[in-house]
Amino acid sequence: MALFSTALGSALLLWCGIISTMMSSRNFALIPAAGVGARVGAQCPKQYVPLAGKLMLLHALDTFAESTAIAHTFVVVSADDGYVKDALVHSPHLSDRVTILYCGGATRRESVLNGLRAARDRIGDDDWVLVHDAARPGLTEAMIDHLIDTVRDDEVGGLLALPVVDTLKRADAGRRVEATVSRDHLWAAQTPQMFRYSLLCKALQSAENATDEASAVEAMGLNPKLVEGSPRNFKVTLPHDVALAELYLKAMP
Ligand code: CTP
Ligand code: MG
Repeated sequence: MALFSTALGSALLLWCGIISTMMSSRNFALIPAAGVGARVGAQCPKQYVPLAGKLMLLHALDTFAESTAIAHTFVVVSADDGYVKDALVHSPHLSDRVTILYCGGATRRESVLNGLRAARDRIGDDDWVLVHDAARPGLTEAMIDHLIDTVRDDEVGGLLALPVVDTLKRADAGRRVEATVSRDHLWAAQTPQMFRYSLLCKALQSAENATDEASAVEAMGLNPKLVEGSPRNFKVTLPHDVALAELYLKAMP
């Protein structure tokens, strides 16, 4: 009987511990915005290109700032960024919701890792971090809520992504079709990608060539959850993407 009540007591304590960790976990956003946007080829880094009435970075920033699910947003820009101050001058409503970190690195992975380290004192080990490209202005609050609702109880974390719809071809060196690749089970990764702070730091530290957070976590032998995103959350990458993003943002603000 005594043994039974001790076991029951320990199970209860463990359960309460798990519940309190889950309930006390906050959600933070971290936006890497330290790239140069070479492929778009604009006069300034693409995150500062005007799009449907405001600069590209401001679209994602406003969406996170308006979301009640997000405790605070960190934006990582390069150390010599000469645009972000002016970009925020007309957005006093963001001042207590957003912190700018001037610690961008040579790659997206480095920028994210530097940002996570710079925000160390403000984020708990078990808090969730939603990493989102500044170059995805089509993010909506509904997408953030859907990701958080689906992932908040997950042990690993997850990301927005879209099932691949096109028929895929593998090319040979002469740009001729070598093979048609099955698209079964293939998804195109988007952001936000949502992982707990300590796991994300550990994963990115050891995955030098990771191009997103999920692949760094995968390299640890873990399997992030895929959560269906939206075509309007595409990444502005090439010159014609600017007009496409503007169409989405004007048609469905
Ligand atoms: N990024 C970053 N630090 C880098 C490189 C990229 O913070 N050293 C950010 C970009 O600002 C962008 C996101 O990572 O928000 C996705 O990267 P990508 O679309 O490749 O942007 P760029 O690197 O700026 O574009 P490009 O590769 O065409 O130069
Ligand atoms: Mg790049």
